Amino acid sequence: MKRLYSIIILFAVLAGLMACGNRSQTGQTDVNSGATNKKEEGVMKQNGQSKENTNILVAYFSCTGTTKPLAEYAAEYLNADLYEIEADIPYTSEDLDYNKSDSRANKEQDDSSARPAISGKVEDMDKYNIVMLAYPIWWGQTPRIISTFLESYDFSGKTIIPICTSHSSGIGSSDKNLHSLVDSSVKWKDGKRFAAGTWENEIIGWLDEMGIQPFVEENGGKEAAECVFDFEKKTVTLNSGYEMPLNGLGTYSLEDDVCVSSVSEALKRGVRLIDTAYMYHNEEEVGRAVRDSGVPREEIFVITKLYPNQFSEPEKAIDEALKKLDIEYIDMMLLHHPGTDDVKAYKAIEKAVEDGKIRSIGLSNWYVEELEEFLPQVTITPALVQNEIHPYYQENDVIPYIQKLGIVVQGWYPLGGRGHTAELLGDETISAIAKAHGKSSAQVILRWNLQKGVVVIPGSSNPDHIQENTELYDFELSDEEMEKINALDRNEKHDWY
Ligand SMILES: Cc1cc2nc3c(=O)[nH]c(=O)nc-3n(C[C@H](O)[C@H](O)[C@H](O)COP(=O)(O)O)c2cc1C
Repeated sequence: MKRLYSIIILFAVLAGLMACGNRSQTGQTDVNSGATNKKEEGVMKQNGQSKENTNILVAYFSCTGTTKPLAEYAAEYLNADLYEIEADIPYTSEDLDYNKSDSRANKEQDDSSARPAISGKVEDMDKYNIVMLAYPIWWGQTPRIISTFLESYDFSGKTIIPICTSHSSGIGSSDKNLHSLVDSSVKWKDGKRFAAGTWENEIIGWLDEMGIQPFVEENGGKEAAECVFDFEKKTVTLNSGYEMPLNGLGTYSLEDDVCVSSVSEALKRGVRLIDTAYMYHNEEEVGRAVRDSGVPREEIFVITKLYPNQFSEPEKAIDEALKKLDIEYIDMMLLHHPGTDDVKAYKAIEKAVEDGKIRSIGLSNWYVEELEEFLPQVTITPALVQNEIHPYYQENDVIPYIQKLGIVVQGWYPLGGRGHTAELLGDETISAIAKAHGKSSAQVILRWNLQKGVVVIPGSSNPDHIQENTELYDFELSDEEMEKINALDRNEKHDWY
């Protein structure tokens, strides 16, 4: 009993020391922080595919059965593959006796070059883009067998999420110390320690917080988890695995130098999502402003669209867009609206995604019936549907339908569109809510969209309005206010699409 107490105290001290170590390392290690446009999880890339194509692996090492159930909960929730890292020579209880300085586990932990052999292997590591790695803490660190595991595969470009169990220590530096064992392109998530007997809900809650969501096999694999908006980062992770900002600049009707200066102003003011289209005749101007902005390319998310008159020769149209924009790659290409050969055009974009020319695909002006007909004909589930959405045309039946497919909804004409903006901004209900929050009507409408899970791309060439349209995250509409705006719906479309 006395020995047990001394061990508990020792582990508690270790926990404290490691917590300090953790603090001193913050800022060096979270390679994901700050980037808005990186292929992070790829979690929802699985949309519409079968479980066999799932791209998450939960790998765990567990000698006394504490870590194992946690790994199982995560794998079950995420519909991920589960792999047990088993030692070639299994650990006996004598091997695990941490009180004996010469026990096998202790000797291994003392020797940084120890690499206990693993029996068996992961069949096809290439197919995973996220690996959750679960392990017990041994003397504040990962058991050396985790080093063997990490050195046995190529993890380039993958995301690794460490979790651990321990008697009392925190995760400390154990996760960060693994970074040097793999390629520098690996995206590490900050790890988390869970106590023995942690409930499934806690694991699920943590995964949800990080935006790691399950693949859901319903409706023949066509239903996926809804996309969660991260209001802190102001981004949403698309089903393609890329992060997209929640607010952007629409460039419809912005031409020539006005377009260049509007996009430049927006980028200066922190806007990182720019929406253009072949039909707006301003891809060159958008591209120029992006190139000249001084903002790193990977931080900017550019959407463009193919118009139906381009659908018959989509490859040519895609190359034309790439050439006009001249920004290395296109973050997302949409089909502007349904039309003859739309499936053919979409398939050409799928090929361009494969070739690395385009990162994500979407549709514009597709509603429930159109989606029902279209989706079974394509391989990659669209990452986004962009439709007309504003308080007078709310699409309350369409939005949830799209979101349930794991597709992000984006609204064009969020402020009512040309000729209607004044009426909408002057709407009594909206103005009263705006007044109560010390915000403008435009900000209230945009915030209402965001709270409904709709990404907004208001267009403007006025720097003050561009600025105003970014200030959407320092207030929140109450349920009652949301309801009041919901009640303004008139099913009144302001354009013909
Ligand atoms: C060699 C060894 C060293 C350990 N070192 C620590 C430690 O530093 N801090 C701690 O809280 N627990 C420590 N533990 C306890 C384990 O981390 C804890 O029991 C863990 O949950 C076991 O996971 P498993 O059952 O999945 O193997 C150690 C256990 C062993 C065998």
